[in-house]
Amino acid sequence: MACISYVFKNLCMFLLVVAVASRSGTWKIFDVRKYGAKGDGKTDNVNQDAWINFQYIDNLIVTGHGTVDSQGSHSWSSTNFDMNRRLPANMAFDFVRKSRINGLISLNSKSEHLNFFCVYHFNISHVNLTAPRNSPNTDGIKIGMSSNVKIRDSHIGSGDDCIAILSGNTNFDIHNITCGPGHGISLGSLGKHKEEKNVEDITVRDTVFNGTSDGIRFKTWESSVAEITVSGFLYENIKMVDVRHPINIDQKYCPYPPCPKLGDSHVQIRNVTVKNIWGTSRNKVAVNLQCSKSFPCKDIQLIDINLTHNGSDGPATALCENVKGSARGKMFPPSCLNSACR
Ligand SMILES: *[C@@H]1O[C@H](CO)[C@@H](O)[C@H](O)[C@H]1NC(C)=O
Ligand SMILES: *[C@@H]1O[C@H](CO)[C@@H](O)[C@H](O)[C@H]1NC(C)=O
Ligand SMILES: *[C@@H]1O[C@H](CO)[C@@H](O)[C@H](O)[C@H]1NC(C)=O
Ligand SMILES: *[C@@H]1O[C@H](CO)[C@@H](O)[C@H](O)[C@H]1NC(C)=O
Ligand SMILES: *[C@@H]1O[C@H](CO)[C@@H](O)[C@H](O)[C@H]1NC(C)=O
Ligand SMILES: *[C@@H]1O[C@H](CO)[C@@H](O)[C@H](O)[C@H]1NC(C)=O
Ligand SMILES: *[C@@H]1O[C@H](CO)[C@@H](O)[C@H](O)[C@H]1NC(C)=O
Repeated sequence: MACISYVFKNLCMFLLVVAVASRSGTWKIFDVRKYGAKGDGKTDNVNQDAWINFQYIDNLIVTGHGTVDSQGSHSWSSTNFDMNRRLPANMAFDFVRKSRINGLISLNSKSEHLNFFCVYHFNISHVNLTAPRNSPNTDGIKIGMSSNVKIRDSHIGSGDDCIAILSGNTNFDIHNITCGPGHGISLGSLGKHKEEKNVEDITVRDTVFNGTSDGIRFKTWESSVAEITVSGFLYENIKMVDVRHPINIDQKYCPYPPCPKLGDSHVQIRNVTVKNIWGTSRNKVAVNLQCSKSFPCKDIQLIDINLTHNGSDGPATALCENVKGSARGKMFPPSCLNSACR
């Protein structure tokens, strides 16, 4: 069992102590200063893509409710922020299997709080990932090429996606998350790189989005080269509190316009069920289903939706583009889907 505690002093003058207990119960302290870190206020102590990185480990347990605070405000300020510069995540896990994080507070990351790549059988619970609304690129959890992942009982508030589900993920169960501020629990962005892989069997349930820009979100680049399929998504029992775009499939994703217009997204979205969703939409268009012209969304099912919009521009509406599917149960705003038989 590994138990980790962190002490960060200040941004440059930091001191980090990692204590690891083996199964026999003996503790080992790793003093990062012995590995080259300097707390002189000048040295850039990041050599890697994360402050703390775990690789090629089975049966890792990170616990103890310790705090990692990377005090990122300096790098978020508009004068210092550089979109093209890769800033370190608070923690990264690569090729880690049969492992879990239970209890961790991560604050003010410079980019994402937790990054996962090629993890299998990984449980994440009771984490609190917090960065302010205006902090760029501070995803809560960013994860790719992973399978059998459970994320539950956690609070994520950040300036970017609460959870970003990237290429090659299968079999996720995400539940009891409060997300806000942030950009929702998102598929993508996908489509940009040819080597991307399908994403399958993702469940998100019993979750609250509070004051976020998006809630349920799919984003694929408009001019995307990757021909992949995204399927088997279930979003169920979800409350929206003042969310700008509660349900949003955006296959013309372009965060920093103008984007090159080379053609339609080649990402096929299919078999997505959105069930029992209620609450308030800040925008009039509460349900936005804008799919690819070349690869229209298929088998999109809306069941029991009640999203209200309170504004001078009238009640909430739904928008459909290149999408096939069906709607049943309560349906506010009224569905724009035609019948599945079409
Ligand atoms: C993850 O949680 C499930 C139950 O929700 C449990 O069966 C499994 O053993 C856990 N895996 C790890 C690695 O903790
Ligand atoms: C998350 O941690 C922050 C900072 O410690 C704290 O202010 C906030 O109340 C915590 N949120 C939850 C839901 O525990
Ligand atoms: C949901 O997660 C919160 C922590 O964010 C926890 O306090 C609460 O007990 C969980 N609810 C359930 C039903 O497990
Ligand atoms: C939403 O967040 C605000 C603070 O930002 C809080 O006061 C409110 O209780 C939250 N609402 C829900 C339903 O969680
Ligand atoms: C659709 O996705 C669900 C998971 O959300 C899965 O159980 C079901 O088998 C899928 N249906 C088809 C026809 O692929
Ligand atoms: C939908 O939500 C509104 C506002 O919360 C509520 O007044 C209304 O009764 C709900 N409609 C249904 C059919 O549940
Ligand atoms: C709708 O907005 C108006 C003006 O902001 C406010 O007075 C009213 O309480 C709101 N109604 C609901 C149901 O939120």
